[in-house]
Amino acid sequence: MENVAKPIAVGLLGLGTVGSGVVKIIENHQDQLIHQVGCPVVVKKILVRDVYKERDVQVNTSLLTTRADEVINDPEIDVIIEVMGGIEETRRHLLQALQQGKHVVTANKDLMALYGSELLATATENGCDLFYEASVAGGIPILRSLVEGLASDRITKMMGIVNGTTNFILTKMCKYGMPYEQVLAEAQALGYAEADPSADVEGLDAARKMAILARLGFSMNIDLEDVQVKGITDITEEDLDYSKRLGYTMKLIGIAHRDGDKAEVSVQPTLLPDSHPLASVSDEYNAVYVYGEAVGETMFYGPGAGSLPTATAVVSDLVAVMKNMRLGVNGRSAVAPQYEKRLKSRSEIFSKYFVRIHVKDEVGAFAKITAIFAEQGVSFEKILQLPLKEKGLAEIVIVTHRASQQAYEDILQRLRDLEIVHQVKSSYRVEGNGN
Ligand SMILES: NC(=O)c1ccc[n+]([C@@H]2O[C@H](COP(=O)([O-])OP(=O)(O)OC[C@H]3O[C@@H](n4cnc5c(N)ncnc54)[C@H](OP(=O)(O)O)[C@@H]3O)[C@@H](O)[C@H]2O)c1
Repeated sequence: MENVAKPIAVGLLGLGTVGSGVVKIIENHQDQLIHQVGCPVVVKKILVRDVYKERDVQVNTSLLTTRADEVINDPEIDVIIEVMGGIEETRRHLLQALQQGKHVVTANKDLMALYGSELLATATENGCDLFYEASVAGGIPILRSLVEGLASDRITKMMGIVNGTTNFILTKMCKYGMPYEQVLAEAQALGYAEADPSADVEGLDAARKMAILARLGFSMNIDLEDVQVKGITDITEEDLDYSKRLGYTMKLIGIAHRDGDKAEVSVQPTLLPDSHPLASVSDEYNAVYVYGEAVGETMFYGPGAGSLPTATAVVSDLVAVMKNMRLGVNGRSAVAPQYEKRLKSRSEIFSKYFVRIHVKDEVGAFAKITAIFAEQGVSFEKILQLPLKEKGLAEIVIVTHRASQQAYEDILQRLRDLEIVHQVKSSYRVEGNGN
């Protein structure tokens, strides 16, 4: 029989998808928790909006309350687990909890991307832990891998498929040639996409996660507004068809890259060579590829959402809090960023690019286009030129060698101004194979 100490009392804010999973894991894995931390874990109070709602998990209704202060101000509660979502109200709850010396575990990327610095500083001031593993890539233990597993390395690049909804949509569009609207409707019917999918499909959700990853990985105060964002809503079947023909897979990729002391962070549809490890991450799965100067390439793969996968990350954070409580070292792990924030300018961000252009099908058109690229010193890696059904027009598809964002955007502007150019149809970043 193990020497079991007094239980640790936990208060939950929220009992939805993730909260139900948290209650199940705490109940089902109690023996394992006792073995790891030396005492039982008891859920003492749970904040919900509606105490009479039918739920996925059975809990004693006397635990439920609609009053946040009954959870946050309960002197017996040591740890607050926030799985209610939302930003301003939740921020107030967590600040209040931390100021009262309660440790906090949260799955809330929206909150951490916007107010992470403030909340972490408050945690440190009050000797509290604030852990948020589940906020990025659900069940994948990526944050702890960055700050512990790779603590001795210098991380220079992170590339992530960190939004399951868009990965599901793009996988279906690529595999079955289905149009965006049809796949989105299917994703909504299956519960992979929200009724209002804009935060996912416009890239904001992924941008929040990349801000959190870049802040931790580069130890720099990267803010959400530092992330360049483009979503997937403009991707057409033609773009996917060409990318396939050229040996690429289209993914919504978050990229955080640092050269020397400067960083860039973006989320955008990106063409990856079919051989790239992220190209085979399909459906609603997530993955984060991390490059460290010493370790080289590593990749973390798994479920990015879902009740039990996300709850696993939440309860693992709870275990970390409890281990710190036993050692009396809470509040020491929220290390302030080591480096001053320095962002790359557009002339310092380099990539290959894919561009698809409709031009008038006349003699000399191609030469005029290549001249614009040549003037900016940008050369081609791949070119396709095909006649179009539309009379008098041809389609040109180019993949460039590496070019600065500044040079490339200047080229796009000059192409749009060119009389023989009917339309620049689409343009994407191309990654992998040496860049
Ligand atoms: N779902 C995932 O797979 C996943 C993955 C990673 C991270 N997350 C994050 O985890 C958090 C929770 O997500 P979820 O999917 O579990 O959400 P959810 O299913 O909508 O559950 C939210 C819970 O919080 C309660 N709640 C919300 N606002 C409240 C308020 N103002 N006052 C009192 N109770 C309130 C709700 O009460 P009622 O039940 O009474 O309505 C519900 O129990 C979010 O920050 C989300 O971004 C979710």
